[in-house]
Order: sequence, then C-alpha cells, then structure tokens
Amino acid sequence: MTFEKHIYLIGFMGAGKSTVAKALSKRTGLPVVEMDEELVRRAGMSINEIFAAKGEGTFRQMESALLSETAAGGPAIVSCGGGLVKDENNVKTMRQSGTVIFLTATPETILSRVLGDHSRPLLEGKHDIASIAEMIAERAPLYERAADQKTPVDGKTPDAIADEILVDLKEENC
Ligand code: S3P
Repeated sequence: MTFEKHIYLIGFMGAGKSTVAKALSKRTGLPVVEMDEELVRRAGMSINEIFAAKGEGTFRQMESALLSETAAGGPAIVSCGGGLVKDENNVKTMRQSGTVIFLTATPETILSRVLGDHSRPLLEGKHDIASIAEMIAERAPLYERAADQKTPVDGKTPDAIADEILVDLKEENC
C-alpha cells in the first residue's frame, strides 16, 4: 500500500494519538509528526509554559502554522493536538491534504491515561470522570465533523488499533 496523502490522528487528550502514530509509522514507513512535541521543540518551552507565558490564543496560532507547514510537506502520520479541530480552517487543511481518523475513547480510558500527568494545562483540576466526560461531550461534535473515519481505542493495543486503521483505509482506498 503506498500513501500519497497524510494520515491525521485526531481525538481527545490521552486517546493515544502519539503511540498509535508510531505503530502506523512502523507499518507504513511514513514519518511521524507529533505536533505537541514539535511545538515544544520550536518554542523551547513546555506546553504548560507556552500557555502560561503566551496564552492559549498564541498556542493555537503556532499550532495552525505548524499544521499548514506539515500539510504542504511529504506524506506523514500526523499526531494532532487535541484542540486542533477547534479552528474550522485547520479542519479544511486536514481534509484537503489527507485522511482524518478520529480515535474515540471513553472518559474512563482517558482518565486512566492522564492520571498523575500534569503536562496538559486544560486538564488541570479536571482529573475526574465527570469533568472529562463533559469536556469530551463538548469536543465530540468537532471531532465527528472533521473525521473521515472513526476507531474506538478502548481495551486495544496501539498495534491492534494501527492494524484496524489500515484495514479501514484500504477499504476506503485512501
Ligand atoms: C489540547 C491537547 C494537547 C495540547 C494542549 C491542548 C487540547 O494535545 O495540544 O494541551 O486543547 O485538547 P494532546 O491531545 O496531544 O494531549
């Protein structure tokens, strides 16, 4: 299977986009762009520090600029920041340049993954099922609108999820 377009992984924080991206990269030979990691590298600051020093608005601008740059480059597996879909233009850019895959997860799965991790400013003080469920409910329509296909991740390994994604991609001939 050859890939001419990007594969964008979207979904809520902690859905496993980064680990699934690595598993997809192993199978396809495509490079991974891990957006948060790249933004941290470029800014020389953690995500928490960027939010604190420059504000969420600046972070979103940096994120959109990196997406445009990535979209214009060679095909890659792109592990997107969970909030990328908030901007309609970002959604357009992704849909025009690749296949968008929404990794869905229950609030229980998300909580188990983010507990004890304080690298995500928007989750601070929200490490409980009710808060996470509320945030997922707010974001879900944005992910749904952006996605070409959806893959539930609960109880599955990153390798199994990657295999499923590739089967679906083959079926859709993307
Ligand atoms: C965010 C998700 C994070 C990161 C930032 C904001 C969001 O990325 O970009 O903390 O608004 O959902 P991950 O989804 O990779 O954790």
